[in-house]
Amino acid sequence: MNLSTVTESERQKLIQVATQAVSKAYAPYSQFRVGAAVLTETGKIFAGCNVENASYGLSMCAERNAIANAIMGERSDTIRVRAIAIVNSQNVPCSPCGACRQVIWEFGQEAQVIFLGKQGWQDSTIEELLPEGFSL
Ligand code: THU
Repeated sequence: MNLSTVTESERQKLIQVATQAVSKAYAPYSQFRVGAAVLTETGKIFAGCNVENASYGLSMCAERNAIANAIMGERSDTIRVRAIAIVNSQNVPCSPCGACRQVIWEFGQEAQVIFLGKQGWQDSTIEELLPEGFSL
């Protein structure tokens, strides 16, 4: 899908920042290193990586860590996610997991999600990836 939410240079920058974040990943259990970069409505970019734990279920995905960093850098009540890019160390298809989709949706219901899909780089809206996200 061709989205015009972000410019091509913003898109490239997001992929670049997410790629750099891959090197920060703590993934000794899966060896699957992931980096994410979030673009907010103020134009700032925040990175995150996956952080695993010996108690596997406590591991945290790169996407949610990037959003947590964005919240720390801005304000949780006003922050809006315009786009998020995800990159992994194995260059294999990697779309955000269901938990991350719901968290992205919380902060940007029109967010553009840039990831490596089965056919190569893919741009989807969060609405396409998570129809009818949960809200209170
Ligand atoms: N992972 C992410 O960080 N993001 C994704 O989109 C998919 C999976 C992480 C979680 C875990 O640390 C590792 O990749 C293997 O599942």
